[in-house]
Amino acid sequence: MKNTVLTFQQAKDKGEKLTMLTAYDYSTAKLEDEAGVNSILVGDSLGNVMLGYEDTISVTMEDMIHHGAAVARGAKNALVVVDMPFMSYQTSVYDAVVNAGRLMKEGRAGAVKLEGGTEVVPQIKAIVSAGIPVCAHIGLTPQSINAFGGFKVQGKSEMAAKKILEDAKAVEEAGAFAVVIEGVPKKLADLITSKLHIPTIGIGAGNGCDGQVLVYQDLLGMFSDFTPKFVKRYANIGEIMKEAFQNYIGEVQSGAFPGEEHEYKIDDDVIEKLY
Ligand code: KIV
Repeated sequence: MKNTVLTFQQAKDKGEKLTMLTAYDYSTAKLEDEAGVNSILVGDSLGNVMLGYEDTISVTMEDMIHHGAAVARGAKNALVVVDMPFMSYQTSVYDAVVNAGRLMKEGRAGAVKLEGGTEVVPQIKAIVSAGIPVCAHIGLTPQSINAFGGFKVQGKSEMAAKKILEDAKAVEEAGAFAVVIEGVPKKLADLITSKLHIPTIGIGAGNGCDGQVLVYQDLLGMFSDFTPKFVKRYANIGEIMKEAFQNYIGEVQSGAFPGEEHEYKIDDDVIEKLY
């Protein structure tokens, strides 16, 4: 079944958990889609896991469009959500609408995601008014890493928790169809989830959210630069890949690969005429 903003809301209303995974390329998107994930997030985490940056600050609109379009080609049923990169929406409402439009037209997104709460309400309203579904993202918002002073859990003090709750209500009111809640205490995420009508998608926010999202390289054990506490590793694909690469290197060096079964044939009388 095709996942849309409507099926997202229906899932919340029926108490069914939503699943979201990141992907950045066609092949991975196709596998996730075939596995039955509700939504694929082309996250700006691609700056870390695909491009090797330390953070998401350097990710560009062109990066998001390039990877978004590849994912969209592989996703038949999953709702493809593409991240708005740093400074593509903070600068003005006009920039936000133009860039959200580019992610839809050129990146073939089904929805866009942007970070922030009360401060991005005008942008969310304008993008939604343009007919583009918006997923909000509150709590530990990686594009604000320099303001936070590092990847730190957010919302632990009364004041900070109150601000995140206000953010959640503000983005719902502005028209977001869902909200990602990242890196906040479980009890705060539970409270937000109970107060909102739209679905909450948690990452590092406990199991009380309406859905969960993970970066797929974390889940598969393919990225070892850093592993947040909230990650669960479902497979060790990184080790399997490394072993396969080593086997390939060894077989090329020894001459075992390619074998006869990988060769193309030519008639002997044809080749003999060339000598
Ligand atoms: O960029 C990303 O992958 C994200 C998720 C971690 C929610 O925003």
